[in-house]
Amino acid sequence: MYNIAIIPGDGTGPEVATEALKSLEAAAGAGGFEYETNHLDLGGERYLRTGETLPASVLEELRSYDAIWLGAIGHPGVEPGVLEKGILLRIRFELDQYINLRPVKLYPNVETPLKDKGPDDIDFVVVRENTEGLYSGMGGVQYGGTPSEVSTQIHMTTYRGAERAIRFAFEIARKRDKDKQLHMVGKTNVLTYVQGTWWRAFNEVGDADYPDIRREYAHVDAASMWFIKNPEWFDVVVTDNLFGDIITDIGAIIQGGMGIAAGGNINPEGVSMFEPIGGSAPKYEGKNSINPLAGISAMQMLIAHLGENEAAGRVEGAVVEALASGRIKSMSAGEMGMSTSEVGDYVASLV
Ligand code: IPM
Ligand code: MN
Repeated sequence: MYNIAIIPGDGTGPEVATEALKSLEAAAGAGGFEYETNHLDLGGERYLRTGETLPASVLEELRSYDAIWLGAIGHPGVEPGVLEKGILLRIRFELDQYINLRPVKLYPNVETPLKDKGPDDIDFVVVRENTEGLYSGMGGVQYGGTPSEVSTQIHMTTYRGAERAIRFAFEIARKRDKDKQLHMVGKTNVLTYVQGTWWRAFNEVGDADYPDIRREYAHVDAASMWFIKNPEWFDVVVTDNLFGDIITDIGAIIQGGMGIAAGGNINPEGVSMFEPIGGSAPKYEGKNSINPLAGISAMQMLIAHLGENEAAGRVEGAVVEALASGRIKSMSAGEMGMSTSEVGDYVASLV
């Protein structure tokens, strides 16, 4: 019996949650496992009502689940950063979800903006370090609001933090049936201190434990270009937190957009959280027009993480079949030719 926390969150998050849960139910029925879900009220509405982002009791409760599914965090009525730092980043940090795993896979029949590229070319995985770097929250402001204002935002990097992300990425490169290749994406030519730590970890871990994996390196600016020009060059990519944030938006758009891109915040020894990469899309809230496929794919990753590989495979198979049918006209909200709930029902029926 799995215990799964559902955080619908803001904007279109709740609508997507409803659809992802349909596929979970179908997968459990077909895959023969049992689960319980508990919906947690976190997000902008709660904050506006009570001033709370992530109360200590909820954080403690989160530690007790087998996995967490999160819809979206971000509310137009709340100043930027409050909910993101107070809820999403706080969960990632407190639960030490040190991996942000973002597969970039173009399914057949999904439109990519890349000319002459297809599913054979766009199939790689980004491992984004998820607890350090420029996201650490270290830094501050001095003489704020005056012409002398000074601000710092510290790129906090530890060897251990880089090393564990790199090791996780090597393991994926070994497991994947592709090129047995790992790219480190960085900026060793400018960020010589923090990237020096990464470079040392990359080479030491590779030399010691992964002689079978080919090591490649790309500066983040060049990698951004190559994701577009030659996505087929990539198998597994490992990178720091902010670079990973940015390049996975490029990854998301080349795999068909925010409507389909999913990821996992993973603590291999603890509680992990799966979410669509896109945000709360307040413009589409309550219109039954947002694409639920990213949320369904996040649920698929969650099911796989529980070890229910057969059931997870069914969900991915259902998404692929739904796309192959041609019934879903576009990955964009409001242009699918189907409503959010129709897509959710259709995919669940194929699971
Ligand atoms: C993401 C998002 C978050 C991030 C924001 C909402 C804090 O962009 O998950 O990629 O920067 O990590
Ligand atoms: Mn992002």
